Amino acid sequence: MHRRLIAPGALAASLLLAIPASAASSSPGAPGIGDPYYPAYGNGGYDVSHYDLRLTYQPRTDELEGTATLLATTTQDLSRFDLDFLLDVSEVRVNGAKASFATSGQHELEITPAKPLPKGTPVTVVVRYSGVPSTKSAYGFSTWHRTPDGAVAADEPEAAWWWYPSNDHPLDKATYDVSVAVPDGTQAISNGTLQSTSSRLGWTRYNWRSNKPQATYLTTLAVGKFDITTGTSEGGVPVVNAYSKDLGDNDGAARASVERTGELVDWLSGYFGPYPFSSAGGYVPNTTTGYALETQTRVYYSPKQFANGSNTSVVVHELAHQWYGDDVSLKGWKDIWINEGFARYAQWLWSEHEGEGTAQELADYVYASHPADDAFWAVEPGDPGPDDQFDIAVYDWGALAVQALRNEIGDDAFFAVLKGWPKKHAYGNASVDDFRKYAEQVSGKQLAALFDTWLFQPSKPAVSAARGVSL
Ligand code: ARG
Ligand code: ZN
Repeated sequence: MHRRLIAPGALAASLLLAIPASAASSSPGAPGIGDPYYPAYGNGGYDVSHYDLRLTYQPRTDELEGTATLLATTTQDLSRFDLDFLLDVSEVRVNGAKASFATSGQHELEITPAKPLPKGTPVTVVVRYSGVPSTKSAYGFSTWHRTPDGAVAADEPEAAWWWYPSNDHPLDKATYDVSVAVPDGTQAISNGTLQSTSSRLGWTRYNWRSNKPQATYLTTLAVGKFDITTGTSEGGVPVVNAYSKDLGDNDGAARASVERTGELVDWLSGYFGPYPFSSAGGYVPNTTTGYALETQTRVYYSPKQFANGSNTSVVVHELAHQWYGDDVSLKGWKDIWINEGFARYAQWLWSEHEGEGTAQELADYVYASHPADDAFWAVEPGDPGPDDQFDIAVYDWGALAVQALRNEIGDDAFFAVLKGWPKKHAYGNASVDDFRKYAEQVSGKQLAALFDTWLFQPSKPAVSAARGVSL
């Protein structure tokens, strides 16, 4: 800013002053991006546009090594900045020059470039690293899941720290090239399209590309022995699925569910608009965890999802997230209702389609099955707090709130909102407040009271408030 104030005659003097002046005004980037639920997650001072991960993984020993190259732009004059990461770093280069680095906090890698970085300039950060992810933890936990034949990184909100350095928050979305070499006979699965594979010296390299903005927690890696299937949906969406060869009794049900991905993507497009990505699909590794995750374009499913036979409902849930969560990502983790309330609501629409109960019936059932003193009603879906971020209330009460909105604004406006939202915020971020404003704009109704009652009160809405929900 001082440069604009300098008179032409002072130019020579200003050149002498330029370096110390800009160094003095640059400061460290914040160690967190500013999310009140998770103050240390993400970082301040820069924005990443692309991650290039070139890795090698040995399943036998859980050794991961390689290089991450990040393309970023500074958003302030930076003397130093952080990445979120847990593995062992051997070298960091910033714009080609070696940078010094240190660890701090639970998962901060502090990088000090040789020279301060001026605001608004492109920066290339190269991080060389190695480590055994299963030996690393932060806050006393690990989300790196080893399997008998490999490992899986798929969790929410923490997954990246164990395998690549990042600005770990959904606010900073980027495109990805993930290239992983694994021993011949083993596969590496990630997001997007498989550009190519190559084999040499006993190692096969899988090159995956995800070419639309993607949140860090939606970037996934699975290594193991997989059977990979490919196809194209009737609507023209390429589909790539992968199944562990070790799914045992769950194998049939897993395939009977996940092989319907193309059909379900097309069906959901009828409600949410065109599928936003260049590939769809899911993978089922031989993990023992119980959840599924909407990892972008390539959904993670636990085999447990299929322990009772086919489960198209979970596939619908995770595919709905491709629009609600992945294409339009939350601004802060408190906005989780936009992800889970709508993914659950999509399951209700599917139930209706399948003749297994209408959305209205399921909403009434949720309302009726939790008495007023049930702890269920103590979790505000619109701001559940970090400990209850994935509480069942965020899903079920969250979807009940969606039904209340539908009844308030009517089907025409409701379905226009459902389809218009992903278009309005395509590949971006939005909050619950943004959603309310959008629904008000489309419906022409004031919705503050409705949102307050259904999303921001820790108590069961009164029957009078639930009048639109038939009881
Ligand atoms: N977003 C996931 C879902 O599809 C929930 C993941 C919860 N995370 C976990 N580690 N259990 O509902
Ligand atoms: Zn979900």
